[in-house]
Amino acid sequence: MSDTETDELERVRTGITGLDEMLLGGLIRGSIAAIVGSYGTGKTTFGLQFIWEGLCQGETAIYISLEESEESIVRYMRKRGWDPGPYQSSFIVLKLDPTNFNLSINSIRNELPSLIRKFSATRLVFDPISLFEDLFESDAERRYEMFRFVELLRDERCTMVMTSETDRDNPYSSRHNLIEYLADTVILLRHIHPNQRFRAKALEVVKMRRSRHSLETRMYEIGDDRIEVLS
Ligand SMILES: Nc1ncnc2c1ncn2[C@@H]1O[C@H](COP(=O)(O)OP(=O)(O)OP(=O)(O)O)[C@@H](O)[C@H]1O
Ligand SMILES: [Mg+2]
Repeated sequence: MSDTETDELERVRTGITGLDEMLLGGLIRGSIAAIVGSYGTGKTTFGLQFIWEGLCQGETAIYISLEESEESIVRYMRKRGWDPGPYQSSFIVLKLDPTNFNLSINSIRNELPSLIRKFSATRLVFDPISLFEDLFESDAERRYEMFRFVELLRDERCTMVMTSETDRDNPYSSRHNLIEYLADTVILLRHIHPNQRFRAKALEVVKMRRSRHSLETRMYEIGDDRIEVLS
């Protein structure tokens, strides 16, 4: 790395081989990353691999699921060899019910910032934030509330990953085309077809505030035990 300002920023490794190099060492501590991808691109796996890396480094992590139950998340982690059993005092999985609008919005807004601080969480994953964004009735309300929400959550010690589904018609945009503007870093996950018989996955770092980053689009694989970005 050259002698730029990025040298002074503390980096948090995602644990995804190849991606940390694209990010010049990892996400910036205390920053918010949006992982935008369509169904099956590996958003949940990405979030859990980020959590697992933290747990292995002795960090404290919170995983908020709007889709899958706590049991299903823990089962999936075990299947990948990421047994959260020994980390019960440093890992929380919370399932929120997005159908209960008021309860979800209020409990997240009122309790999450204090939970992060009380638990001294250094990693937080929100999977997927797009289901939370769906709760708002108008674009204007969504925009206003999401800006407030993200600023309320920001914590200089806690690095956050928010996954988002893509827009139905545009695989380059999140569902509400909003989280890209709120997040410090945007990583786009995509299905690609290198030829007619073969489907693959590719990712790119679209944006990273305060830092240089790789401009390459690189293929990645979700193997039995982890996501790996190919060189
Ligand atoms: N052993 C494995 N177990 C589970 N998924 C695997 C495995 N190996 C590869 N995969 C890939 O991982 C993808 C699922 O990843 P994941 O659930 O993290 O995606 P997602 O983006 O969160 O999906 P969704 O939008 O449905 O929530 C599968 O589509 C498959 O391509
Ligand atoms: Mg998922």
